[in-house]
Amino acid sequence: MIKPHGSEQLNPLYVADEAKRAALLEEAQTLPSLLLNSAAAANAVMLGAGYFTPLNGYMNLADAKSVANSLKTTDGLFWPVPVVNITNDISAIEGASRIALRDPNVEGNPVLAVMNVDAIEDVTVEELIAMAVEIFGTDDAEHPGVATFTGLGKYVLSGAIEVLNYSYFAADFPDTFRTAVEIRNEIADRGWEKVVAFQTRNPMHRAHEELCRMAQEDLNTDGILVHMLLGKLKKGDIPADVRDDCIRKMVDVYFPENTVMVTGYGFDMLYAGPREAVLHALFRQNCGCTHFIVGRDHAGVGDYYGGFDAQTIFDEKVPAGALDIEIYRADHTAYSKKLNKVIMMKDAPDHAKEDFILLSGTKVRQLLGDGIAPPPEFSRPEVAEILMNYYRSTQ
Ligand code: ADX
Repeated sequence: MIKPHGSEQLNPLYVADEAKRAALLEEAQTLPSLLLNSAAAANAVMLGAGYFTPLNGYMNLADAKSVANSLKTTDGLFWPVPVVNITNDISAIEGASRIALRDPNVEGNPVLAVMNVDAIEDVTVEELIAMAVEIFGTDDAEHPGVATFTGLGKYVLSGAIEVLNYSYFAADFPDTFRTAVEIRNEIADRGWEKVVAFQTRNPMHRAHEELCRMAQEDLNTDGILVHMLLGKLKKGDIPADVRDDCIRKMVDVYFPENTVMVTGYGFDMLYAGPREAVLHALFRQNCGCTHFIVGRDHAGVGDYYGGFDAQTIFDEKVPAGALDIEIYRADHTAYSKKLNKVIMMKDAPDHAKEDFILLSGTKVRQLLGDGIAPPPEFSRPEVAEILMNYYRSTQ
């Protein structure tokens, strides 16, 4: 089976041993505690679940800068996006070498993890902006990822963590949230060797569905891992539970049984386009996938990135051998009215170069808001119905 990134084995930081976890929870009640921001909490969940193998915890400032500037830690580990715990207020934990990290996303702010604090370093807004420019390709404060990153705080807390639960993800998405350990094990149990992963933050429309089908056929894979983001999104994106229903329905109706695993992971969307595509590929390798689909404007937002920058970054910034997972590059895909099917535009014969059904996310939201179902060439009717019900419930 494909090896995890930088390691022979997954390195989940979740404490699976119940007695040990109970002891840590008890200890945590005696420790000074820090209320995390959502970004740091999401990092803890990813570290806990083994997705961020081989990391042991949060990066220090030198590693964060090195990753932002050159996609590797100061030790030379290939890594595309800083995994940090940056905060504004350290008054409650100053001088402590061991602290409890509290979850901002669960009522009562229960302890999410215990941390050995290696260092607390000052970071300036200018330093955060400089990193943001590298990670997001812009310092525009309107960019949702830049706004989040540059507003994280003034202190970088680094050190190893032990994770005690999976925040709200396990409770809210019991059928869908899976750790990298669970996915890797399930892939092994199914006997799948070649597996293509599909990242999504959307209900899967026809283009998404066909991308999966094309990748499976072109690569002759044993199965597809549909792996949806379950964490925070920007306003206007479809909530995870609705998306989950849409995807499950589509897979049930339109894919043969036992060819698709529908799963999700607990991370907030970064909107870092190309850099996020590399992170996405890395953690799908940790899940045991051999291939990863990167299509048009992967993990993009607005018009900050070129349509295929998230593909070319793998040629330009990912050194040979840095990752074992391979990228399946998809061209812009849409329904051709002339050919009566969904195709990649590059494959359109001359007589069918135009005449595609292209709907923007905004247009689809408008249609749904007006109680109009998106056309069947764009969304499966079963998916459109779930979306219409959701939009009705919001009005
Ligand atoms: S993402 O932020 O998670 O990347 P989305 O769920 O829309 O957003 O996309 C999931 C994957 O499908 C990404 O690899 C994206 O590039 C690809 N994709 C989505 N729509 C299209 C399309 N029409 N043509 C080509 N690729 C697409």
